[in-house]
Amino acid sequence: MAEVVQKAARATWSSKWAFILAAAASAVGLGNLWRFPYLAAKYGGGMFLLTYLVMVFSFGIALLLLETALGRKTGQSVVGAFKSFGKRYAFIGWFTALIPFIIVPYYCVIGGWVAKYFAAYFTDGPAALADGGGYFTAFVSGNYESFLWMLIFMFITFLVVSFGVKSGIEKANLVMMPALIVMAIALSIYTLSQPGALEGAAYYLIPDFSKFSPELVIAAMGQTFFSLSLAMGIMVTYGSYVAKTESLTSSATRVCGFSFGISLLGGLMIVPAAFVALGSGDAVAANAGPNLMFVILPQLFMGFGDMATVVGAVFFALVIFAALTSSISLVETCTSIVQDATNWTRRRSLLLTCVVITVCGMMVNLGYNGWSFIQPLGEGSTILDFADFLSNSVMMPLAALMTCIFVGWIIKPKTIEDEIASSSPFKIRKIWRVMIKYVTPVLVVVILIAYVASSLGFFSL
Ligand code: PHE
Repeated sequence: MAEVVQKAARATWSSKWAFILAAAASAVGLGNLWRFPYLAAKYGGGMFLLTYLVMVFSFGIALLLLETALGRKTGQSVVGAFKSFGKRYAFIGWFTALIPFIIVPYYCVIGGWVAKYFAAYFTDGPAALADGGGYFTAFVSGNYESFLWMLIFMFITFLVVSFGVKSGIEKANLVMMPALIVMAIALSIYTLSQPGALEGAAYYLIPDFSKFSPELVIAAMGQTFFSLSLAMGIMVTYGSYVAKTESLTSSATRVCGFSFGISLLGGLMIVPAAFVALGSGDAVAANAGPNLMFVILPQLFMGFGDMATVVGAVFFALVIFAALTSSISLVETCTSIVQDATNWTRRRSLLLTCVVITVCGMMVNLGYNGWSFIQPLGEGSTILDFADFLSNSVMMPLAALMTCIFVGWIIKPKTIEDEIASSSPFKIRKIWRVMIKYVTPVLVVVILIAYVASSLGFFSL
Protein backbone atom coordinates (compact mmCIF):
# COMPACT_ATOMS: atom_id res chain seq x y z
CA MET A 1 0.00 0.00 0.00
CA ALA A 2 2.74 2.39 1.01
CA GLU A 3 4.39 1.76 -2.29
CA VAL A 4 1.28 2.56 -4.25
CA VAL A 5 0.95 5.86 -2.43
CA GLN A 6 4.58 6.65 -3.06
CA LYS A 7 4.27 5.87 -6.74
CA ALA A 8 1.21 8.03 -7.13
CA ALA A 9 2.98 10.91 -5.44
CA ARG A 10 6.17 10.65 -7.46
CA ALA A 11 6.73 13.87 -9.28
CA THR A 12 8.02 14.20 -12.79
CA TRP A 13 10.14 17.03 -14.10
CA SER A 14 8.17 19.75 -15.80
CA SER A 15 10.14 19.34 -19.02
CA LYS A 16 13.19 17.71 -20.45
CA TRP A 17 15.16 20.84 -19.71
CA ALA A 18 14.08 20.78 -16.08
CA PHE A 19 15.83 17.45 -15.65
CA ILE A 20 18.93 18.48 -17.54
CA LEU A 21 19.08 21.66 -15.55
CA ALA A 22 18.58 19.95 -12.21
CA ALA A 23 21.15 17.30 -13.03
CA ALA A 24 23.57 19.95 -14.28
CA ALA A 25 22.98 22.09 -11.21
CA SER A 26 23.80 19.15 -8.99
CA ALA A 27 26.79 18.24 -11.10
CA VAL A 28 28.29 21.70 -11.50
CA GLY A 29 29.64 22.89 -8.22
CA LEU A 30 32.77 23.02 -6.16
CA GLY A 31 33.89 19.90 -7.97
CA ASN A 32 34.39 21.91 -11.16
CA LEU A 33 35.68 25.16 -9.75
CA TRP A 34 37.57 24.11 -6.65
CA ARG A 35 38.41 20.43 -6.89
CA PHE A 36 39.14 19.94 -10.57
CA PRO A 37 41.61 22.84 -10.95
CA TYR A 38 43.69 21.80 -7.97
CA LEU A 39 43.79 18.16 -9.06
CA ALA A 40 44.81 19.19 -12.57
CA ALA A 41 47.49 21.44 -11.13
CA LYS A 42 48.72 18.69 -8.85
CA TYR A 43 48.74 15.77 -11.27
CA GLY A 44 50.66 17.14 -14.19
CA GLY A 45 48.23 19.48 -15.95
CA GLY A 46 47.50 18.25 -19.48
CA MET A 47 47.94 14.60 -18.62
CA PHE A 48 45.26 14.86 -15.96
CA LEU A 49 42.97 16.84 -18.24
CA LEU A 50 43.25 14.24 -20.98
CA THR A 51 42.68 11.30 -18.62
CA TYR A 52 39.70 13.06 -17.14
CA LEU A 53 38.25 13.83 -20.57
CA VAL A 54 38.50 10.18 -21.59
CA MET A 55 36.93 9.03 -18.33
CA VAL A 56 33.98 11.44 -18.44
CA PHE A 57 33.04 10.43 -21.96
CA SER A 58 33.57 6.72 -21.48
CA PHE A 59 32.52 5.27 -18.17
CA GLY A 60 31.26 8.59 -16.75
CA ILE A 61 28.56 8.89 -19.34
CA ALA A 62 27.91 5.14 -19.28
CA LEU A 63 27.27 5.23 -15.54
CA LEU A 64 25.18 8.36 -15.78
CA LEU A 65 22.97 6.58 -18.29
CA LEU A 66 22.84 3.49 -16.16
CA GLU A 67 21.83 5.38 -13.03
CA THR A 68 19.15 7.51 -14.64
CA ALA A 69 17.71 4.51 -16.47
CA LEU A 70 17.72 2.42 -13.29
CA GLY A 71 15.89 5.21 -11.50
CA ARG A 72 13.35 5.65 -14.24
CA LYS A 73 12.75 1.94 -14.62
CA THR A 74 12.16 1.29 -10.93
CA GLY A 75 10.65 4.65 -10.06
CA GLN A 76 12.58 4.56 -6.80
CA SER A 77 15.52 6.17 -5.15
CA VAL A 78 18.70 4.23 -4.69
CA VAL A 79 17.91 1.73 -1.91
CA GLY A 80 14.47 0.94 -3.29
CA ALA A 81 15.85 0.67 -6.82
CA PHE A 82 18.22 -2.16 -5.91
CA LYS A 83 15.72 -3.74 -3.55
CA SER A 84 13.11 -3.93 -6.28
CA PHE A 85 15.21 -6.68 -7.89
CA GLY A 86 15.37 -8.68 -4.66
CA LYS A 87 15.92 -7.95 -0.99
CA ARG A 88 19.41 -9.35 -1.05
CA TYR A 89 20.58 -6.57 -3.36
CA ALA A 90 19.49 -3.76 -1.09
CA PHE A 91 22.94 -3.64 0.49
CA ILE A 92 24.36 -2.06 -2.68
CA GLY A 93 21.86 0.72 -2.26
CA TRP A 94 22.70 1.12 1.42
CA PHE A 95 26.40 1.26 0.76
CA THR A 96 25.86 3.86 -1.97
CA ALA A 97 23.55 5.81 0.31
CA LEU A 98 26.28 6.22 2.91
CA ILE A 99 28.47 8.22 0.55
CA PRO A 100 26.59 11.54 0.48
CA PHE A 101 26.73 11.56 4.30
CA ILE A 102 30.50 11.60 4.09
CA ILE A 103 30.60 14.23 1.38
CA VAL A 104 28.14 16.87 2.62
CA PRO A 105 29.99 17.78 5.82
CA TYR A 106 33.22 18.64 4.06
CA TYR A 107 31.41 20.12 1.07
CA CYS A 108 29.81 22.57 3.50
CA VAL A 109 33.19 23.36 5.08
CA ILE A 110 34.47 24.46 1.66
CA GLY A 111 31.16 26.20 1.00
CA GLY A 112 31.85 28.15 4.21
CA TRP A 113 35.29 29.15 2.93
CA VAL A 114 33.74 30.47 -0.26
CA ALA A 115 31.13 32.42 1.69
CA LYS A 116 33.82 33.89 3.91
CA TYR A 117 35.83 35.02 0.89
CA PHE A 118 32.78 36.66 -0.61
CA ALA A 119 32.24 38.66 2.57
CA ALA A 120 35.93 39.36 3.09
CA TYR A 121 36.09 41.35 -0.14
CA PHE A 122 33.95 43.91 1.63
CA THR A 123 35.25 43.63 5.18
CA ASP A 124 38.98 43.17 4.68
CA GLY A 125 39.44 44.29 1.09
CA PRO A 126 41.08 42.51 -1.84
CA ALA A 127 44.67 43.23 -0.82
CA ALA A 128 44.36 41.40 2.49
CA LEU A 129 43.19 38.24 0.70
CA ALA A 130 45.99 38.33 -1.85
CA ASP A 131 48.86 37.73 0.52
CA GLY A 132 49.90 34.38 -0.86
CA GLY A 133 48.18 32.08 1.61
CA GLY A 134 48.71 33.65 5.04
CA TYR A 135 45.17 34.97 5.17
CA PHE A 136 43.74 31.61 4.29
CA THR A 137 45.80 29.72 6.84
CA ALA A 138 44.94 32.18 9.58
CA PHE A 139 41.28 31.85 8.71
CA VAL A 140 41.02 28.06 8.68
CA SER A 141 43.21 27.57 11.71
CA GLY A 142 41.44 30.29 13.68
CA ASN A 143 39.15 29.22 16.44
CA TYR A 144 35.66 30.18 15.63
CA GLU A 145 35.30 32.03 12.34
CA SER A 146 35.59 29.07 10.01
CA PHE A 147 32.96 27.25 12.09
CA LEU A 148 30.67 30.20 11.81
CA TRP A 149 30.90 30.36 8.02
CA MET A 150 30.39 26.63 7.69
CA LEU A 151 27.27 26.92 9.82
CA ILE A 152 25.99 29.81 7.74
CA PHE A 153 26.46 27.81 4.54
CA MET A 154 24.79 24.77 6.11
CA PHE A 155 21.94 26.85 7.43
CA ILE A 156 21.13 28.24 3.98
CA THR A 157 21.27 24.75 2.50
CA PHE A 158 19.00 23.31 5.19
CA LEU A 159 16.60 26.20 4.88
CA VAL A 160 16.18 25.74 1.14
CA VAL A 161 15.74 21.99 1.50
CA SER A 162 13.19 22.48 4.25
CA PHE A 163 11.13 24.75 2.01
CA GLY A 164 11.54 22.39 -0.90
CA VAL A 165 11.64 25.37 -3.25
CA LYS A 166 12.80 23.37 -6.19
CA SER A 167 11.23 25.56 -8.80
CA GLY A 168 12.84 28.63 -7.29
CA ILE A 169 16.24 27.03 -7.57
CA GLU A 170 15.58 25.93 -11.11
CA LYS A 171 14.73 29.48 -12.12
CA ALA A 172 17.66 30.99 -10.33
CA ASN A 173 19.92 28.49 -12.07
CA LEU A 174 18.76 29.78 -15.37
CA VAL A 175 20.32 33.14 -14.56
CA MET A 176 23.25 32.21 -12.37
CA MET A 177 24.72 29.43 -14.46
CA PRO A 178 25.15 31.55 -17.60
CA ALA A 179 26.55 34.34 -15.40
CA LEU A 180 29.08 31.90 -14.02
CA ILE A 181 30.09 30.78 -17.49
CA VAL A 182 30.52 34.33 -18.76
CA MET A 183 32.58 35.19 -15.70
CA ALA A 184 34.74 32.09 -16.05
CA ILE A 185 35.40 32.79 -19.73
CA ALA A 186 36.27 36.42 -19.01
CA LEU A 187 38.61 35.46 -16.18
CA SER A 188 40.28 32.78 -18.28
CA ILE A 189 40.99 35.31 -21.01
CA TYR A 190 42.31 37.71 -18.42
CA THR A 191 44.54 35.03 -16.88
CA LEU A 192 45.92 34.13 -20.28
CA SER A 193 46.81 37.73 -21.03
CA GLN A 194 49.16 37.84 -18.05
CA PRO A 195 52.87 37.63 -18.76
CA GLY A 196 54.06 34.05 -18.50
CA ALA A 197 50.55 32.61 -18.51
CA LEU A 198 50.83 30.94 -21.88
CA GLU A 199 53.47 28.64 -20.55
CA GLY A 200 51.04 27.83 -17.77
CA ALA A 201 48.30 27.19 -20.31
CA ALA A 202 50.63 24.80 -22.11
CA TYR A 203 51.23 22.96 -18.83
CA TYR A 204 47.48 22.71 -18.35
CA LEU A 205 46.49 21.80 -21.89
CA ILE A 206 49.30 19.74 -23.39
CA PRO A 207 49.66 16.24 -21.98
CA ASP A 208 53.09 15.27 -20.76
CA PHE A 209 52.99 11.49 -20.82
CA SER A 210 55.83 11.15 -18.36
CA LYS A 211 53.45 12.54 -15.72
CA PHE A 212 51.24 9.49 -15.97
CA SER A 213 50.85 7.68 -12.65
CA PRO A 214 48.38 5.36 -10.93
CA GLU A 215 47.60 8.16 -8.47
CA LEU A 216 46.65 10.33 -11.41
CA VAL A 217 44.26 7.67 -12.71
CA ILE A 218 42.65 7.20 -9.28
CA ALA A 219 42.31 10.94 -8.85
CA ALA A 220 40.75 11.33 -12.30
CA MET A 221 38.38 8.46 -11.64
CA GLY A 222 37.31 9.85 -8.28
CA GLN A 223 36.83 13.25 -9.87
CA THR A 224 34.61 11.75 -12.57
CA PHE A 225 32.29 10.30 -9.94
CA PHE A 226 32.36 13.37 -7.76
CA SER A 227 31.88 15.91 -10.49
CA LEU A 228 29.09 14.09 -12.29
CA SER A 229 27.41 13.33 -8.95
CA LEU A 230 27.67 9.61 -9.71
CA ALA A 231 27.91 6.54 -7.51
CA MET A 232 25.97 8.02 -4.64
CA GLY A 233 22.40 7.59 -5.64
CA ILE A 234 21.59 11.12 -6.73
CA MET A 235 21.17 10.37 -10.41
CA VAL A 236 19.07 7.30 -9.64
CA THR A 237 16.66 9.49 -7.72
CA TYR A 238 16.69 12.16 -10.40
CA GLY A 239 16.16 9.53 -13.07
CA SER A 240 13.09 8.33 -11.25
CA TYR A 241 11.47 11.70 -11.96
CA VAL A 242 12.18 11.62 -15.69
CA ALA A 243 9.18 11.06 -17.94
CA LYS A 244 9.12 7.79 -19.88
CA THR A 245 9.13 9.63 -23.18
CA GLU A 246 12.29 11.60 -22.76
CA SER A 247 15.60 10.69 -24.29
CA LEU A 248 18.04 9.66 -21.60
CA THR A 249 20.97 9.52 -23.98
CA SER A 250 20.79 13.12 -25.10
CA SER A 251 20.22 14.34 -21.53
CA ALA A 252 23.23 12.42 -20.27
CA THR A 253 25.42 13.70 -23.08
CA ARG A 254 24.42 17.28 -22.36
CA VAL A 255 25.03 16.97 -18.63
CA CYS A 256 28.48 15.47 -19.19
CA GLY A 257 29.38 18.05 -21.81
CA PHE A 258 28.25 20.91 -19.65
CA SER A 259 30.04 19.72 -16.56
CA PHE A 260 33.24 18.99 -18.44
CA GLY A 261 33.13 22.42 -20.09
CA ILE A 262 32.88 24.20 -16.75
CA SER A 263 35.74 22.15 -15.31
CA LEU A 264 37.85 22.97 -18.33
CA LEU A 265 37.19 26.67 -17.78
CA GLY A 266 37.77 26.38 -14.04
CA GLY A 267 41.19 24.95 -14.73
CA LEU A 268 41.97 27.48 -17.42
CA MET A 269 41.22 30.26 -15.00
CA ILE A 270 43.25 28.91 -12.10
CA VAL A 271 46.11 26.71 -13.34
CA PRO A 272 47.87 29.26 -15.59
CA ALA A 273 47.36 31.88 -12.85
CA ALA A 274 49.05 29.52 -10.39
CA PHE A 275 51.81 29.04 -12.90
CA VAL A 276 52.37 32.79 -13.12
CA ALA A 277 52.42 33.09 -9.34
CA LEU A 278 54.65 30.10 -8.68
CA GLY A 279 56.89 30.05 -11.72
CA SER A 280 56.96 26.42 -12.89
CA GLY A 281 54.87 23.33 -13.41
CA ASP A 282 56.71 21.52 -10.64
CA ALA A 283 56.12 24.33 -8.20
CA VAL A 284 52.44 24.35 -9.12
CA ALA A 285 52.21 20.58 -8.63
CA ALA A 286 53.98 20.76 -5.28
CA ASN A 287 51.76 23.54 -3.96
CA ALA A 288 48.39 22.50 -5.30
CA GLY A 289 45.87 21.44 -2.73
CA PRO A 290 42.40 22.28 -1.45
CA ASN A 291 43.49 25.86 -0.77
CA LEU A 292 44.60 26.60 -4.36
CA MET A 293 41.51 28.53 -5.36
CA PHE A 294 41.60 30.63 -2.21
CA VAL A 295 45.21 31.58 -2.57
CA ILE A 296 45.64 32.06 -6.31
CA LEU A 297 42.42 33.75 -7.37
CA PRO A 298 42.65 36.68 -4.94
CA GLN A 299 46.11 37.38 -6.34
CA LEU A 300 44.70 37.34 -9.83
CA PHE A 301 41.87 39.68 -8.86
CA MET A 302 44.33 42.25 -7.54
CA GLY A 303 45.24 42.94 -11.15
CA PHE A 304 41.84 44.56 -11.58
CA GLY A 305 42.88 47.50 -9.41
CA ASP A 306 39.90 49.48 -8.21
CA MET A 307 37.55 46.85 -9.52
CA ALA A 308 39.16 44.03 -7.51
CA THR A 309 36.51 44.13 -4.80
CA VAL A 310 33.67 43.87 -7.26
CA VAL A 311 35.26 41.17 -9.41
CA GLY A 312 36.25 39.11 -6.36
CA ALA A 313 32.90 39.44 -4.66
CA VAL A 314 30.89 38.66 -7.79
CA PHE A 315 33.05 35.67 -8.55
CA PHE A 316 32.74 34.15 -5.08
CA ALA A 317 29.02 34.92 -5.06
CA LEU A 318 28.62 32.81 -8.20
CA VAL A 319 30.70 30.03 -6.71
CA ILE A 320 28.54 30.10 -3.58
CA PHE A 321 25.57 29.65 -5.82
CA ALA A 322 27.03 26.74 -7.75
CA ALA A 323 28.04 25.15 -4.45
CA LEU A 324 24.64 25.69 -2.90
CA THR A 325 22.74 24.01 -5.71
CA SER A 326 25.00 20.99 -5.27
CA SER A 327 24.85 20.90 -1.48
CA ILE A 328 21.09 21.20 -1.68
CA SER A 329 20.93 18.14 -3.92
CA LEU A 330 23.19 16.30 -1.50
CA VAL A 331 21.14 17.14 1.59
CA GLU A 332 17.94 16.37 -0.27
CA THR A 333 19.35 12.93 -1.06
CA CYS A 334 20.46 12.32 2.53
CA THR A 335 17.02 13.28 3.76
CA SER A 336 15.24 10.92 1.41
CA ILE A 337 17.60 8.13 2.45
CA VAL A 338 16.79 8.67 6.13
CA GLN A 339 13.13 8.83 5.26
CA ASP A 340 13.25 5.59 3.32
CA ALA A 341 15.18 3.91 6.11
CA THR A 342 13.03 5.01 9.01
CA ASN A 343 9.62 5.72 7.56
CA TRP A 344 9.69 8.97 9.49
CA THR A 345 8.14 12.16 8.23
CA ARG A 346 10.22 14.28 5.93
CA ARG A 347 10.56 16.90 8.64
CA ARG A 348 11.94 14.53 11.19
CA SER A 349 14.28 12.94 8.65
CA LEU A 350 15.58 16.33 7.64
CA LEU A 351 16.16 17.22 11.28
CA LEU A 352 18.24 14.11 11.89
CA THR A 353 20.15 14.70 8.66
CA CYS A 354 20.91 18.29 9.71
CA VAL A 355 22.15 17.21 13.14
CA VAL A 356 24.39 14.48 11.75
CA ILE A 357 25.80 16.77 9.05
CA THR A 358 26.42 19.62 11.48
CA VAL A 359 28.27 17.40 13.94
CA CYS A 360 30.37 15.81 11.20
CA GLY A 361 31.06 19.21 9.64
CA MET A 362 32.34 20.45 13.00
CA MET A 363 34.69 17.49 13.15
CA VAL A 364 36.01 18.15 9.66
CA ASN A 365 36.54 21.78 10.55
CA LEU A 366 38.32 20.88 13.78
CA GLY A 367 40.82 19.08 11.58
CA TYR A 368 42.21 22.48 10.62
CA ASN A 369 42.56 23.82 14.13
CA GLY A 370 41.84 22.02 17.43
CA TRP A 371 42.38 18.56 15.98
CA SER A 372 45.07 19.37 13.45
CA PHE A 373 47.29 16.72 15.05
CA ILE A 374 45.04 14.15 13.35
CA GLN A 375 46.75 13.62 10.00
CA PRO A 376 45.18 10.46 8.61
CA LEU A 377 46.93 10.49 5.24
CA GLY A 378 50.37 11.40 6.42
CA GLU A 379 52.24 14.56 7.29
CA GLY A 380 50.15 17.69 6.85
CA SER A 381 46.96 15.95 5.73
CA THR A 382 43.63 16.80 7.32
CA ILE A 383 40.35 15.15 8.21
CA LEU A 384 38.91 16.85 5.11
CA ASP A 385 41.52 15.19 2.91
CA PHE A 386 40.65 11.88 4.50
CA ALA A 387 36.88 12.25 4.04
CA ASP A 388 37.49 13.27 0.44
CA PHE A 389 39.83 10.33 -0.16
CA LEU A 390 37.55 7.81 1.53
CA SER A 391 34.49 8.85 -0.44
CA ASN A 392 36.01 9.64 -3.85
CA SER A 393 38.87 7.20 -4.12
CA VAL A 394 37.53 4.24 -2.19
CA MET A 395 33.78 4.15 -1.63
CA MET A 396 32.57 5.60 -4.93
CA PRO A 397 34.69 3.26 -7.04
CA LEU A 398 33.38 0.36 -4.94
CA ALA A 399 29.78 1.52 -5.31
CA ALA A 400 30.30 1.86 -9.07
CA LEU A 401 31.87 -1.59 -9.18
CA MET A 402 28.95 -3.20 -7.39
CA THR A 403 26.46 -1.36 -9.59
CA CYS A 404 28.20 -2.51 -12.77
CA ILE A 405 28.41 -6.10 -11.60
CA PHE A 406 24.79 -5.97 -10.59
CA VAL A 407 23.59 -4.62 -13.92
CA GLY A 408 26.15 -6.29 -16.14
CA TRP A 409 26.06 -9.77 -14.66
CA ILE A 410 23.07 -10.21 -12.38
CA ILE A 411 20.03 -8.44 -13.80
CA LYS A 412 21.77 -8.31 -17.22
CA PRO A 413 22.38 -5.15 -19.24
CA LYS A 414 19.36 -5.74 -21.44
CA THR A 415 17.03 -4.66 -18.63
CA ILE A 416 18.63 -1.22 -18.59
CA GLU A 417 19.23 -1.06 -22.34
CA ASP A 418 15.56 -1.59 -23.02
CA GLU A 419 14.71 1.22 -20.66
CA ILE A 420 17.09 3.55 -22.44
CA ALA A 421 15.96 2.41 -25.89
CA SER A 422 12.30 2.85 -24.98
CA SER A 423 12.54 6.62 -25.34
CA SER A 424 15.21 7.15 -27.98
CA PRO A 425 17.38 5.14 -30.35
CA PHE A 426 20.27 3.70 -28.37
CA LYS A 427 23.04 3.71 -30.94
CA ILE A 428 25.89 3.03 -28.60
CA ARG A 429 24.20 0.03 -27.01
CA LYS A 430 27.06 -2.37 -27.71
CA ILE A 431 29.78 -0.05 -26.51
CA TRP A 432 27.74 0.74 -23.45
CA ARG A 433 27.37 -2.92 -22.62
CA VAL A 434 31.10 -3.52 -22.91
CA MET A 435 31.70 -0.49 -20.71
CA ILE A 436 29.41 -1.72 -17.96
CA LYS A 437 30.26 -5.40 -18.10
CA TYR A 438 34.02 -5.24 -18.58
CA VAL A 439 35.77 -1.91 -18.86
CA THR A 440 34.50 -0.15 -15.76
CA PRO A 441 34.70 -3.11 -13.34
CA VAL A 442 38.16 -4.13 -14.55
CA LEU A 443 39.43 -0.57 -14.41
CA VAL A 444 38.11 -0.05 -10.89
CA VAL A 445 39.48 -3.35 -9.59
CA VAL A 446 42.90 -2.93 -11.15
CA ILE A 447 43.27 0.62 -9.94
CA LEU A 448 42.12 -0.13 -6.42
CA ILE A 449 44.31 -3.19 -6.02
CA ALA A 450 47.36 -1.45 -7.44
CA TYR A 451 46.78 1.47 -5.18
CA VAL A 452 46.17 -0.50 -2.00
CA ALA A 453 49.12 -2.78 -2.69
CA SER A 454 51.42 0.15 -3.23
CA SER A 455 50.26 2.00 -0.16
CA LEU A 456 50.79 -1.13 1.90
CA GLY A 457 54.30 -1.22 0.49
CA PHE A 458 54.07 -4.46 -1.53
CA PHE A 459 55.62 -2.72 -4.49
CA SER A 460 56.26 0.80 -5.51
CA LEU A 461 54.36 2.25 -8.42
N1 PHE B 1 29.01 17.21 -8.43
C1 PHE B 1 29.12 18.22 -7.44
C2 PHE B 1 30.27 19.11 -7.72
O1 PHE B 1 30.95 18.96 -8.69
C3 PHE B 1 29.26 17.68 -6.07
C4 PHE B 1 28.21 16.76 -5.76
C5 PHE B 1 28.51 15.47 -5.58
C6 PHE B 1 26.91 17.18 -5.70
C7 PHE B 1 27.51 14.60 -5.33
C8 PHE B 1 25.92 16.32 -5.47
C9 PHE B 1 26.24 15.02 -5.29
O2 PHE B 1 30.54 20.00 -6.97
